[in-house]
Amino acid sequence: MGGRVHLYTLLAFVYILTLAKCDLGAELAARIAPETSPDVQEEAVTQLIQRVIGSRASQLFQVEVNKMLEANSYQISRLDNGKVLIAGSNGVSACKGFHYYLKHGLNKDFDWFKTYIELPEHWEMPNVIHKSKSGSSLIYYQNVCTWSYSFVWWQFDEWRRHIDWMAMMGINLVIAPNQEAIWQNVYTDLGLTQQEIDAHFAGPAFQAWQRMGNIRGWAGPLPPAHRQLQQLLQQRILKAQRELGMSVALPAFAGHVPTAMQRIFPNASFTPAERWNNFPDPYCCDLFVEPHDPLFQQVGAMFLRRVIQVYGSNHIYFSDPFNEMMPRLKEPNYIRSTAKAIYNSMEEVDSDAVWLLQGWMFLRAFFWTDNLIEAFLTAVPSGRILVLDLQSEQFPQYQRTHSYYGQPFVWCMLNNFGGTLGLFGSAQVISSKIIAARSMPNSSLVGVGITPEGIGQNYAMFALTLEQGWSVDVLQLESWFQHFALTRYAVNDTRLSQVWQLLRESVYSFHGLQRMHGKYSLNKRPSLNLNPWIWYNETTIYEAWGLMLEAREIVPLEDDRLSIYEHDLVDITRQFLQQSFDRIYVNLKSAYRKEQLGRVEYLADKLLELFEDMERILASGHNYLLGNWLEAAKQLAPSEEHRPIYEFNARNQLTAWGPNGQILDYATKQWSGLMSDYYQPRWNMFLEGVKLALQSKKPFNASEFRQRVANEIELPFSNLTKVYPTSPVGNTWNISNGIHEKWKSYLADTQFLHNCRIAVKLMRGNQSADVQSK
Ligand SMILES: *[C@@H]1O[C@H](CO)[C@@H](O)[C@H](O)[C@H]1NC(C)=O
Ligand SMILES: *[C@@H]1O[C@H](CO)[C@@H](O)[C@H](O)[C@H]1NC(C)=O
Ligand SMILES: *[C@@H]1O[C@H](CO)[C@@H](O)[C@H](O)[C@H]1NC(C)=O
Ligand SMILES: *[C@@H]1O[C@H](CO)[C@@H](O)[C@H](O)[C@H]1NC(C)=O
Ligand SMILES: *[C@@H]1O[C@H](CO)[C@@H](O)[C@H](O)[C@H]1NC(C)=O
Ligand SMILES: *[C@@H]1O[C@H](CO)[C@@H](O)[C@H](O)[C@H]1NC(C)=O
Ligand SMILES: *[C@@H]1O[C@H](CO)[C@@H](O)[C@H](O)[C@H]1NC(C)=O
Ligand SMILES: *[C@@H]1O[C@H](CO)[C@@H](O)[C@H](O)[C@H]1NC(C)=O
Repeated sequence: MGGRVHLYTLLAFVYILTLAKCDLGAELAARIAPETSPDVQEEAVTQLIQRVIGSRASQLFQVEVNKMLEANSYQISRLDNGKVLIAGSNGVSACKGFHYYLKHGLNKDFDWFKTYIELPEHWEMPNVIHKSKSGSSLIYYQNVCTWSYSFVWWQFDEWRRHIDWMAMMGINLVIAPNQEAIWQNVYTDLGLTQQEIDAHFAGPAFQAWQRMGNIRGWAGPLPPAHRQLQQLLQQRILKAQRELGMSVALPAFAGHVPTAMQRIFPNASFTPAERWNNFPDPYCCDLFVEPHDPLFQQVGAMFLRRVIQVYGSNHIYFSDPFNEMMPRLKEPNYIRSTAKAIYNSMEEVDSDAVWLLQGWMFLRAFFWTDNLIEAFLTAVPSGRILVLDLQSEQFPQYQRTHSYYGQPFVWCMLNNFGGTLGLFGSAQVISSKIIAARSMPNSSLVGVGITPEGIGQNYAMFALTLEQGWSVDVLQLESWFQHFALTRYAVNDTRLSQVWQLLRESVYSFHGLQRMHGKYSLNKRPSLNLNPWIWYNETTIYEAWGLMLEAREIVPLEDDRLSIYEHDLVDITRQFLQQSFDRIYVNLKSAYRKEQLGRVEYLADKLLELFEDMERILASGHNYLLGNWLEAAKQLAPSEEHRPIYEFNARNQLTAWGPNGQILDYATKQWSGLMSDYYQPRWNMFLEGVKLALQSKKPFNASEFRQRVANEIELPFSNLTKVYPTSPVGNTWNISNGIHEKWKSYLADTQFLHNCRIAVKLMRGNQSADVQSK
């Protein structure tokens, strides 16, 4: 008898524990859910379906948003009238159900570039009966930088498609960082002059870093109309997101203010921000208001009240006071009261406030010791701070912080810096570590997310993360990639399937600790000291490329899958050329050291030829054109007279990133136009110099080259105004095939193989990430 009582007590205890664990995420998600009525959500989903498959096909679907369903769940069934019923607990869940139907019923998927799916005139409606509940209370998307690296020139049409994509991926939490129109009013009310305000705001392409206090004024002044237009745009974005049941985190005050605030508040305690990446004075070092100072509370409340007035609220606010910047004192009491002060400034305005924090700052382990992190996080009431573990696939902090000392967190995959191109990813880590983090003892994981600095690359990795975030079980990678290929091209072909298995085993198998920032030799500043490395067997890409070319005939034309096929064919050709560039380069470097002029000349010719091929293949792809980026920037300019500053912003972000190449090539893009007019001329200048040095038997003067390349190519590029095409040129398959034929002959050519015999260093990743973070 007694034993049984104990057993029941124990079971009840376990039950309560389980409940408590679930509740953390469920409670948080409920607190921040938008109050959109089911009717409005149903209508929004219905319209989304119309946009995705057209109005005729969409009539075969019926949508129901039913709050009685379990949170984050959907059910697909067949109605008596033959229609497919998609019921979801909210709009996003219904959209996720619709996505399931497309992907598993119709074998068709979408991506960032293509959200429209053509269906034949008469199609068999598969009978799919399925229900599913998300394994994560929250599915999160966005990085503050994505707004500058990818969304900066977007107008509402692009946003509309992208929000559709988000909803269909099950994303239910995003951010909305635009805030300059509000600051304009706050600063004016506080007594700053327009001149002082203008000196603070950065240009349109650099606002993410001005908001974080890293820079000020660079590439400005921001036209006043820009602030207004962006505010209107963001209001429309928020409306569309909330109608689908998505929550939006809004900005709260993070302490960074214009330097002129000191004039008005001479007695407040300010700390100048650290100089960031050597930005010179007019562009660096705004002021940070000490969170304990009454001014922090005053400005914080003023700002947040207006934010809520303009944008409404889902009770969640993001604030990152110490992003790439250190608190004044390394002392637990100070850290605790600082976090308290920041949270109070939100709570004063909204008693239900949840603080969304990027956990990025905790990576600076030399400052953020375990006890400081604990002091910071536990200063906020339990469940009222949500941490984004920003790069969980490589530098997770949740183990080290014992699951953020019980505060909820989101497992995020970042995957790229600056939105650079290059196939790269950690599929195995994604599929295994998310589930492991969810089931670790005392786990406070409440969500999964993606936090790319830029988008438009490695779509498969982002899709995988979001699907793993929804899934309760570990996704089996081999079958996941097989299905990915099937639905991507809407055709069951063993070659295309094999392509994606090869990518899974090679480019998507990274699991090391090396910091991979998507910089490959061809888009770095040339030098004799580059040390390229590779983490996979290069041959795999050559094989995948061949298979891709062979499969050309099989891709269905009638539903425009060809555009996705061509996009991928450009990408794989580009990847092969990128890795081949590295290979030729390491040989050239060795030939230079051995003073082999003939070999240097031979390899230099090959590098230049490779640039031409690269330019041609990129120019044939819709999504690889500099012209798209520049024209979108100019179109966003509120008036003709502002077009030059917009173009300057667009060009500078991709290249010099600053007045003097402060963060040179950080957000580099392998795009047509940049290849021909920026990277190629830079390498051409370098190769000429290297050959001349060998001929004249003098060492290559690297410092002279650096000066010349900066003054003649890198810095002037931001000021040029050449117009580039916005439509592709040439036939992708033909171009790719021609390049493939050429390399087939090189790889059988003894002269080539002799001159190019050294392989790029292979550094397979290692799993010591786990060890280090403990
Ligand atoms: C700053 O403090 C000084 C000395 O306490 C005082 O005289 C002055 O009025 C204060 N200024 C402002 C703007 O509060
Ligand atoms: C889990 O939490 C309990 C209660 O706070 C604690 O005693 C235990 O040590 C924790 N377990 C781990 C593995 O952190
Ligand atoms: C794809 O084709 C293979 C045989 O080539 C077959 O085994 C498999 O079931 C097919 N898959 C689908 C989804 O049709
Ligand atoms: C793992 O990789 C890191 C970074 O390259 C390296 O420093 C470390 O020595 C490697 N560890 C092992 C066990 O190979
Ligand atoms: C790369 O793969 C090819 C073909 O599968 C194989 O012949 C070669 O030995 C591999 N190279 C390395 C370094 O593993
Ligand atoms: C390299 O060029 C610079 C001028 O840019 C010159 O001052 C320097 O002496 C040169 N170095 C050598 C080793 O020739
Ligand atoms: C680019 O133009 C700006 C003014 O529009 C000028 O200040 C700057 O010096 C120019 N830069 C170069 C490298 O020509
Ligand atoms: C592709 O190349 C072939 C042979 O070079 C040529 O006949 C054909 O017209 C090309 N097709 C296109 C669409 O460019």
